Amino acid sequence: MVRVTVPIPGRSYDVVVGAGVLARTGALLPELPKAARAFVVADRAVVDHGFGALAGSLKEAGLDPVLLSVPSGEEAKSLQVYGTLVHQLATQEAHRDDVVVAFGGGATGDLAGFVASTYMRGLPLVQVPTTLTGQVDSAIGGKTAVNLPEGKNLVGTYFQPRAVIADVELLATLPERDYRSGLAEVAKYGLALDPELLGQLETDPAPVLRREPAVLEPLVARCVGLKAAAVAEDERDTGARLVLNYGHTLGHALERLEAFEGRSHGEAIAVGMVFAARLAESLGVAGPGIATRTTRLLASLGLETDGALPPVPDVLAAFRLDKKFHGGVRFVLLEDVGRPLIVDDVPADRLAQILGEMGATR
Ligand SMILES: NC(=O)c1ccc[n+]([C@@H]2O[C@H](COP(=O)([O-])OP(=O)(O)OC[C@H]3O[C@@H](n4cnc5c(N)ncnc54)[C@H](O)[C@@H]3O)[C@@H](O)[C@H]2O)c1
Ligand SMILES: [Zn+2]
Repeated sequence: MVRVTVPIPGRSYDVVVGAGVLARTGALLPELPKAARAFVVADRAVVDHGFGALAGSLKEAGLDPVLLSVPSGEEAKSLQVYGTLVHQLATQEAHRDDVVVAFGGGATGDLAGFVASTYMRGLPLVQVPTTLTGQVDSAIGGKTAVNLPEGKNLVGTYFQPRAVIADVELLATLPERDYRSGLAEVAKYGLALDPELLGQLETDPAPVLRREPAVLEPLVARCVGLKAAAVAEDERDTGARLVLNYGHTLGHALERLEAFEGRSHGEAIAVGMVFAARLAESLGVAGPGIATRTTRLLASLGLETDGALPPVPDVLAAFRLDKKFHGGVRFVLLEDVGRPLIVDDVPADRLAQILGEMGATR
C-alpha cells in the first residue's frame, strides 16, 4: 500500500493506492466527525465488483452505507441523473456531515463530486475510483462535472475529496478498451513528466498489460504523485496543471468531431501525443526521434496512432474552440521526454501541414 498526499493548503488529502485496499476503505478514511451515513454513488456495472466489501468496511468504521446506483459510464453525467440523486439525498434526509462516496470510473466520480459539492453547499466526498483513468487522473484534483446536450463538462465545480482509495485489484474486470484508454494517460505522464516511468514502460510493458497488481501499485502511485504535484501548484488549472494536457488539444478535437462515438478519450490523446511530438520536431522544439519513440511506446501498449483523421479545416476550427486555449492555438510540446513547454500561437499552416502528413485531407 502506498499513500500519496495531495498537498493543497487547507484541503490536503491522501490518495491510498494498493491491492485490496477497498475492503479497508472505512479504516483508511480521515476523521469525519458526525458523519452517520455514507451515500455510495455507484456505477451500476461496478456494484457487483466490490460494493459488498466497500459497504462492509464502511459499516465497521461506523458509517451506515446507502447505495445510490447510477447508469454506467458517461450516461450518468447528466442533469437528470444529478437531479435524481439530490432528490434521493433530500428524501433520505442526508445530513451535511454525512459523506458521499463515488464508486466507479471517472464519469461516476465527476457526477458524485458535483452532487457532493452542491447538495447543502457541500458534503464530504470520498473517491473510490474503479478504472485506470479514475485512479491515475480523474479522482484526484477536485474537478467535478456533468454534461449538457450542448457539450461535455459544461456544468461543474472545483471540490477536493477528503480521501481517494484506489484499489488496483478492481482493474482486473475493466473492459480492455477502457484499460488501454487509461494506459494512454499513463504514457502521457511518462512522456511529459517522468522519463523513469517512461523507461519502465518501454523496457517491459507486458506486466502492465497483464494488470499485475504488484506492478500496478507503484505505477498508479507514481502517476498519482505527478498529478498531485501539478494540482497542488495549480488547483484551478491555469498554469502548472496545463502540462497534464499533453496530447489533449488534438485529443479533445478528435473526440468532439467524432461526436464522442469514435475514439475513446485515451485513443484520441494517443493520436494527440504523436501529433504533438511531430509538431515539436517540425518546429525545432524537440530533436528528431521523439515522434518515433512516442509511436513505438503507444503501439506497445496496444494504442493505435494511424487511424483516419477528420479534414484539416474541421480540426483547426475545433482547436479554436478548446476551452483551455482561448486566443491563439496553444500547445503543450516537449523539448525532450520529461521536459514540457507551453508554446503559444503555433501557426495554423504548420498545424495543417502535420495533420496532412498524418493523413488528414486538406
Ligand atoms: N475530473 C477530472 O479531472 C477528469 C479527468 C479525466 C477524465 N474525467 C472524466 O472521466 C470520464 C471517463 O472516465 P473513465 O475512463 O473512468 O470512464 P467511465 O467512468 O465512463 O467508465 C468506463 C466504463 O468502465 C466500466 N467500469 C468502471 N469500473 C469498472 C470495473 N472495475 N470493472 C468493470 N467495468 C468497470 C463503467 O461501467 C463504464 O462502462 C469522462 O467523463 C471524463 O470527462 C474527469
Ligand atoms: Zn485525459
